[in-house]
Amino acid sequence: MDSIVVTGGAELRGSIEIAGAKNACLALMPATLLTEEPLTLMNAPRLSDIKTMTLLLQSLGSEVQSLQDGRVIAMSSLGPISTTAEYDIVRKMRASNLVLGPLLAREGHAVVSLPGGCAIGARPMDIHVTALEAMGAEIELKDGYLHAKTQGGLKGARVPLRFASVGATENVLMAATLAKGTTVIENAAREPEIVDLASCLSKMGAQIDGAGASTITIQGVDRLGGATHAVVTDRIELGTYMLAPAICGGEVECLGGRLELVEAFAAKLDEAGISVEETAKGLKVARKNGRVAAVDVRTEPFPGFPTDLQAQMMALLCTADGVSHLEETIFENRFMHAPELLRMGADVDIQGGTATVTGVERLKGAPVMATDLRASVSLILAGLAAEGETVVNRVYHLDRGYEHVEEKLGAVGAKIERVPGV
Ligand code: UD1
Repeated sequence: MDSIVVTGGAELRGSIEIAGAKNACLALMPATLLTEEPLTLMNAPRLSDIKTMTLLLQSLGSEVQSLQDGRVIAMSSLGPISTTAEYDIVRKMRASNLVLGPLLAREGHAVVSLPGGCAIGARPMDIHVTALEAMGAEIELKDGYLHAKTQGGLKGARVPLRFASVGATENVLMAATLAKGTTVIENAAREPEIVDLASCLSKMGAQIDGAGASTITIQGVDRLGGATHAVVTDRIELGTYMLAPAICGGEVECLGGRLELVEAFAAKLDEAGISVEETAKGLKVARKNGRVAAVDVRTEPFPGFPTDLQAQMMALLCTADGVSHLEETIFENRFMHAPELLRMGADVDIQGGTATVTGVERLKGAPVMATDLRASVSLILAGLAAEGETVVNRVYHLDRGYEHVEEKLGAVGAKIERVPGV
């Protein structure tokens, strides 16, 4: 398994191109199942999670082609389409569950393995199941698989979500485009990736109103057509690279970044004393001098501070001047980066869902282990600020969500290299 070796201390200067959003692309790809016409995604990120979704769709009978070095994904699901999503692929990634809604909408039945993904909590599927049941699906769990069927197709319904789950909102949104009648999703997730999915579905002919708000209304149509759609910027990759100069010092322009994607996060950087400026090409982030100030952070669904940036923010706060509190409200087990940061000399105390971080003057390089996607990159960020060498092991998690991280950070002056595993 590859590792990443980082030598800390370098100031960062230059620009980093931000890729298309992994989480948007993973929701957009299953939309191919809703039409027999071609669906083409531009600005796709080149990540192993995208390869996993490609394999899953191919296993169902879709044609999926990666073009222009992976930047373009051309898909076609003319049929026949299998309705069984096998455990062997689904276990690699939780987002595989996003084929459930489209398969039900297209074929009226589906068998989808319960997913795997990052080990950051229980992550059940009850919200998806209850929502699709409200639309007339009958769903039971047998041998680790969800067996879903409908009598004569899905029907539009009022679908209140007990929590604004991103995946459940996406599954219902896709399912409802072809359902009979009107579906109203209440307490819908408001993430930019939902807006992006709705925008692509609308290009395909779906009738959707309210994406980005808590209530989304979908008027079912008989069929959807093809479309070409550019994936929205990855706000999590954006936030991660905004933290690089914040942690190391210097000035980095994140190309393609927009403030509206990361407002709550940028507000916390501002509070910590980091300057964030919108430019014609993206967001310019600079740390002028001195230590950053301690800040308190609470993760929340969008537009709040994203849970997917909590680990990286902790890396910054480890060297802040004072005591910060990080409250994780979305996942119950998402502080696995903390023990690794302790190995680097950080002072972090976890009590339930809250981490208390007492800033230290300087972190020290150490061998550390990546435990999930965002944890891996937080350790790289910490390594960039640390004295000496940090070796981040088990970086396959990283490759699920960050393309060419060593090249992107290397280009702005970071001392970072990938060491191939044996
Ligand atoms: C998506 C993102 C992930 C991000 C998360 C929260 C993708 C591919 N992944 O994941 O990076 O961290 O949103 O912003 O877009 N839950 C239930 N029952 C359910 C569904 C969810 O209890 O049926 C719980 C989960 O266990 C978790 C919380 O709700 O504690 C949030 O989950 P959800 O919003 O569904 O996240 P995902 O769509 O899996």
